[in-house]
Amino acid sequence: MLNWDDYKKSEEKQVAPSTVQEEIVQEQIVQETKEETIEEHIPAEPGERAKKAKESLEMLDTKEGEEELEGLAGRVQVDDKAMINCRADLNQLVPFKYDWAWQKYLDGSANHWMPQEVNMTADIALWKSNDGLTEDERMIIMRNLGFFSTADSLVANNLVLAIYRLITNPECRQYILRQSFEEAIHTHAYQYCIESLGMDEGEIFNMYREIPSVAKKASWGLKYTKEISTPGFVTGTDETDKLLLKNLIAFYCVLEGIFFYCGFTQILSMGRRNKMTGTAEQFQYILRDESMHLNFGIDMINQIKIENPHLWDEQMRQEAAQMILEGAELEIQYARDTMPRGILGMNAGMMEEYLQFIANRRLVQIGLEEEFEGATNPFPWMSEIMDLRKEKNFFETRVIEYQTGGALTWD
Ligand SMILES: [Fe+2]
Ligand SMILES: [Fe+2]
Repeated sequence: MLNWDDYKKSEEKQVAPSTVQEEIVQEQIVQETKEETIEEHIPAEPGERAKKAKESLEMLDTKEGEEELEGLAGRVQVDDKAMINCRADLNQLVPFKYDWAWQKYLDGSANHWMPQEVNMTADIALWKSNDGLTEDERMIIMRNLGFFSTADSLVANNLVLAIYRLITNPECRQYILRQSFEEAIHTHAYQYCIESLGMDEGEIFNMYREIPSVAKKASWGLKYTKEISTPGFVTGTDETDKLLLKNLIAFYCVLEGIFFYCGFTQILSMGRRNKMTGTAEQFQYILRDESMHLNFGIDMINQIKIENPHLWDEQMRQEAAQMILEGAELEIQYARDTMPRGILGMNAGMMEEYLQFIANRRLVQIGLEEEFEGATNPFPWMSEIMDLRKEKNFFETRVIEYQTGGALTWD
């Protein structure tokens, strides 16, 4: 039988067995470990197994079992709830404290859609025709599918691996779970477009490594995931709380709030000109989801600021503004790279102004001053798309029927 000291010895030996003798000893230890493992897994008699299960459950009736639940601090009151560093039981969804988070969960769920609902036939014919699209238009479609096909995975990973654990409020977590599924649907939508159009999947899915204007945006975001996603990372100090706040600004205000806007505008502009309408429709649904993600993120950031005003000091405000301006600059570079010439009634200069307009909005939304004086929106139709109600799509090609629980019958 091995004890802990033997195990430690065996581990040491596995690293660097210095003599033949030691190797033999190590082999013996490995052999004994194997035998022990086999012994443990010999199936008990059927009656024995049920008895063992009952005995094991008896533990739940003991003080130890009660303590497991009591450790979660009993019934939750509204005032016990907090966005971060909360000690109240996170398994109790109600009573709600942040109605805006629950409402967004309901609204997001009511907007459910799937990529296969969108008809891609016209896109396939246009993509395969020799004279339907210019080279510049083809590049825009490929670059954007390249950027977005991995960007939504970066966002989903950040939600699940970094943010979810650190936001200590159940109604916000409920929305984060909904958002995570929507990010999976978005990645699915890009994959569905890439597959439908018969593109080189390896080329598209590797653009975030191989095309500099795409790669820079991805690595800018990844830096903020890495900072807070290690298993040992916990909040609770000013320094770590600020890292979480910066991550939220990076992902909600910059990735979802700036990095998506050039590509969305380009593809939707194409749809408005009756080109690649299926792809544009997919992007339109995604944009509707994304504008809700952005608004949720801004609500979270502002709520954390209200509850923890000491975090929002001069240094943090400057860093937050710098992050948003870095994001805008990277997106302007992306616009120049994807639009070397004027195309679809737009050019890199117009996009630059649009991104300055967007950056101003993001700054103001989290309580900072505008940077680009007098920047206006050259694409007012983008705002109209984002405000659309779910019943109608932008191109008015069809009315979308949403399946709900109420539509099911038991007949
Ligand atoms: Fe997304
Ligand atoms: Fe999103």
